[in-house]
Formats: sequence, structure tokens, C-alpha cells
Amino acid sequence: MFMRDVIQKKRDGGSLSAAEIDFFVNGYTEGAIPDYQAAALLMAICFSGLSADEIFLLTGAIARSGEIVDLSGVKGTKVDKHSTGGVGDKTTFVAAPLAAACGVPVAKMSGRGLGFTGGTVDKMESIPGMRSSLGADEFIALVNRTGIAVIGQTGRVAPADKKIYALRDVTATVDSLGLIASSIMGKKLASGSDAFVLDIKCGSGAFMGTLADAMSLGETMAGIGEAAGKKVIAVVTDMDQPLGRCVGNSIEVIEAIETLKGRGPDDVTELSLRLASYMICAGGAAGTRDEGYGMAERALESGAGLGKFREFVGGQHGDPRVTEDYSLFPEAAFSEPALSGEDGIVSGVDAALIGLASQRAGAGRETKDDAIDLSAGIVMRKKRGDAVRAGEPLAEVFGSDPARLRIAAETARSAFAIGRDRPARTELIRAVIDGRGPGPLWP
Ligand code: URA
Repeated sequence: MFMRDVIQKKRDGGSLSAAEIDFFVNGYTEGAIPDYQAAALLMAICFSGLSADEIFLLTGAIARSGEIVDLSGVKGTKVDKHSTGGVGDKTTFVAAPLAAACGVPVAKMSGRGLGFTGGTVDKMESIPGMRSSLGADEFIALVNRTGIAVIGQTGRVAPADKKIYALRDVTATVDSLGLIASSIMGKKLASGSDAFVLDIKCGSGAFMGTLADAMSLGETMAGIGEAAGKKVIAVVTDMDQPLGRCVGNSIEVIEAIETLKGRGPDDVTELSLRLASYMICAGGAAGTRDEGYGMAERALESGAGLGKFREFVGGQHGDPRVTEDYSLFPEAAFSEPALSGEDGIVSGVDAALIGLASQRAGAGRETKDDAIDLSAGIVMRKKRGDAVRAGEPLAEVFGSDPARLRIAAETARSAFAIGRDRPARTELIRAVIDGRGPGPLWP
């Protein structure tokens, strides 16, 4: 088989066979297929799409490209939570400890930043000492001991996705429904959990811009999980502006800790509680979403979630004192405001542009080998519906390179639309898809 023929078939709108998909996935993982041919196929997929069968086959090939983690040694229903990628999304650091504090074992595999979106692994690594690469034995032992572990992709679990993901990030081949569904579900199926809560982001800061596309992605992923015998709850959530006020790495973890202390922004708190409630239900610790929500709220109010976060950090070799001393995080040397040019009301924020500005400040990668600046990021001083005066900061950009910050601040400023009227409120949870198919909105 020749890679050139596989690329041409997809370029011309053909359907790839199981053998062709395995040839690509295995060949690229082993290094036999070069980046430029893999990138050409990914771009052809972005243009021509993948059928449901191809998505299923690609998911299986990604899952089988490495070790399938056996979590049968962990008692209870192991739950994982995964987002399709957003801007300012730090809910894993809140929802996962809350669910674990309610007795649900959380065994989660996370990714790095992709395109304009941030990644949990990059954020985690801003905690001094924190390790995201653990062997399978250490991962299992941690979930058994503390009830929570979050790992990045080691070379051993879904290595195909690790390589393809990094290549997609820098070749503008991220926003394809089939590639996203197979990337996420391939690593989820390999990581050994029994149940998955999928946060399908929808809006200007998501790979799926419309509710219809986000629903299709959620249904596709839920279908793959269920066919593999897993319990899946997919929740379509708003990403039409960044979640919370902080976008970056260390500053997002600090905002998550503030949320666990009960002082977080309303949207981060509410979405985290809801995701935690779904995790608690999926893990069988609550019979209804309302019951799960009440349990998550009590874990937040009692400080049990914060305590679990400290155990999680300590368990993965990080310094748990960060919860009390934020100066232990990497701190930015410089900042640059993005000033409003007019009086008015913020009628919209293009979240992808804020993600791009954060990347330009140094918080994300432009090429796959770039090092990132863990201190870089953006603090949103205004969000949708806020009044602003000319000359007031809309956002503030942080980082270590003043020249980059000036460009990033200009990008951030261009993300804001200022109007005269207060914009309509958008729902945080747009839809829920579980085993019963597309369901009603919350509850
Ligand atoms: N998250 C992933 O793990 N993969 C994607 O393709 C997009 C978001």
C-alpha cells in the first residue's frame, strides 16, 4: 500500500477501508510515514470528511495503537471527563476533585493545548513539581489511593493520537468532526475508564460553532462509547465567550483553586458543579442529576473538593502549598492592557481570538516543538453585557516578552464587539445527550 494513494483517495472524496486507516495510523505512529504525508491526509479529511464507519475505524486504530490500560484493579465505576476544547476551560480542576470527593473514582487522560484552545496537561504543568506522565501502575495506584489521577498521553497509551494531535495543532487540521471524535474517543477507550462525561463546547471559542454541529459531534462520540460498552453523557455547553476571567496556564489553575474556595466566577462554578453532578451520576454515586448536584455543592461548600485537589496535586508530585500561596506559580514579568476605543456595552467576545491572543502572548504553541510560557495569559476585565468606557481595559495580557504582548493585546482588543444594547443571555448548558439519545435541557 502507498500513502500517496491513500491521500489521493480521500482527496477525491472516497471512503477509506479498515486496512488503509490502519496503514496510516500504524505507519505514522512508527515513523514510517513522514509528517508531510500525514498532514496532507489530515487536510484531505478536513475537506472531504469521514463517514460514520471511517470514524469508528479510526477510533479503534487510535485506541489500539498502544497499550489499553486495565483499570479493573480499581474498585467502582471509573469516570473520565473530557472537553472538546475551549478557551478558559479549567473545569477539570474543579469538577474532577468534587466528583472524587463524593466517592467517584476519577481516572482521566488529558491533552495539551490544541489550536487556539488550552490543554489541561499544559495547565497542570504550571503547578511546581506536578507530573502528568505516570506509568500505568502508578496511575492505577493513585486512583486507588486518592480517588483521582489525571495523566497526559504517555508514549504508551494511544501514541497515534499524541502524534496526530500535535501535527493537527500546527497544520490547521483540528476542526473536523471525524478527527475530533476519533481523537477523543480513541484515547478515552484506551485509558480504561467505564464512564465518560463529554463536554462538547459550542460557539466562537469552540471547534463546533453551531448547536447543530455540536449535537452531531456529541451524538457521534456517545455512539462510539456506547458501542464499546461504556456509559457516556455528552453535554453541549456554551463557548461563545471565554469561561471565567482567566485564559492561560498558571492563571487558570489559580482561578480553579479560587472556585474550589467558593470565590470563582459564576460560570466556572456553575458549569463545574453540573459536570461534577454528571460524573457523580455516571459513577453511580447518585441516582438523579439533582441528587448529584446537591452532593457536588456540599463538597464545594465543605472544602472537601479543595482537599481532594490538594491530594491530587500531592499524589502527582506537585506542591500542594500552591492552594495557599499563589506566588509558587510561574509569574509573568510584563503586562499590556487591551483598551476600549469607545463607550458602550460589550455585545460579544470572539473567544477564538482571545485564545489566539493568549497563544501569541506565549501561552500556546505555534509549532509543535515550541516551549510555552506557563505564566502567560489573559485576564478578561470585561465580559459580554458589561458596560465599558473609552480608554478602560477590556482585557490585560501577561507574559515575558513585551513585543509579543503588544501584538497579543491588539488581538485581544479585536475580539470585543461594543454596542449600545445589552445582548441576550445565553444558556451555559445548551443540551444533554445520554444513552436515551438527545435529551431535554437540564435537569
Ligand atoms: N481534544 C482532543 O483530545 N482531540 C481533539 O481533536 C480535540 C479536542
